[in-house]
Amino acid sequence: MKNIAILCSGGDVSGMNPAIKHFVEYALEKELTPYFVYDGFKGLIENKIVKATHKDVAGIINRGGTILGSARSKKFMEKKFREVAKKNLDALNIDMLVVLGGDGSFRGMDIFYKEQGIKFCGIPSTIDNDINGTEYCLGVDTALNVIKESIDNIRDTAASFSRAFVIETMGRDCGYLALVSALTCGAELCLIPEVEYDLKEYEKSFKKQIKNGRRYFIAVVSEGIKEESSEIAKWFEEKIGFESRATILGHTQRGGNPTIYDRLMAYKFVNHALDGMLEGRDESVICYTKKGFEYKSIDEVANKKYQLDDKLLSYLKKF
Ligand code: F6P
Repeated sequence: MKNIAILCSGGDVSGMNPAIKHFVEYALEKELTPYFVYDGFKGLIENKIVKATHKDVAGIINRGGTILGSARSKKFMEKKFREVAKKNLDALNIDMLVVLGGDGSFRGMDIFYKEQGIKFCGIPSTIDNDINGTEYCLGVDTALNVIKESIDNIRDTAASFSRAFVIETMGRDCGYLALVSALTCGAELCLIPEVEYDLKEYEKSFKKQIKNGRRYFIAVVSEGIKEESSEIAKWFEEKIGFESRATILGHTQRGGNPTIYDRLMAYKFVNHALDGMLEGRDESVICYTKKGFEYKSIDEVANKKYQLDDKLLSYLKKF
């Protein structure tokens, strides 16, 4: 029987646990012996590698986060530690890895493969949805649903008060979460890092809306914009004349019960990852595109800057 391991690296997402569960089940079905690597690349170096069974993944499908733990490892950037990681894997006869993570993790694996020969398939996993070459990253749908829940709750109180609410989403330099949430939760304003903005341009229209009876505003802003959300709230107070509150959703967006969509995507990503490796793809990332699932090279995925889809970006004109 061949041995295969799974690890999570970088920011955790809801959907990792369903993926881990299916990894064990599908590996066993394919007559592979599944192993867990705890704490990402750090765990590879520290030899936290353990054989997995059905029992280990019972009752985890509904849990956010990852039972394996995740980490961002600086040590893995050094050759001497990668050599230790390889030795640990060799001792267990493991030469295939499934990596749930972002582009940084895939770049790390690319070096590991080229230098130490450990084969891998990456599964794009980040709530930011900012990995080049894939339209979907595991965890995004759950994060969007968490954001939706928060904005809907804020709307309840907003509708009872004449106030402006500024809601900050995560995403690093990518405005995907903010833009999709603003569109689907009925915001009046959306600011994202990809597009320059000038708040002055909104003053006239917002004041007109107030004259026409608008009682509250909802603004969704991405954490990567040039200003703090508190400054946007101050602008509402000073220039629009509305009492204002800012809410930073922060790490609430990374947790929660994985949605059906993320559970299903976890299932499909894992199937393709294992199938690809068994077909002899030694270094790839399984991406979800308009054509369905496609295996892509590290160059296509991790060495190009992510760009928001033009069609989606064009919807920003609404705000
Ligand atoms: O990449 C995922 C992400 O959640 C970003 O949206 C956010 O900027 C960052 O990670 C937060 O990182 P940390 O959990 O280290 O604070």
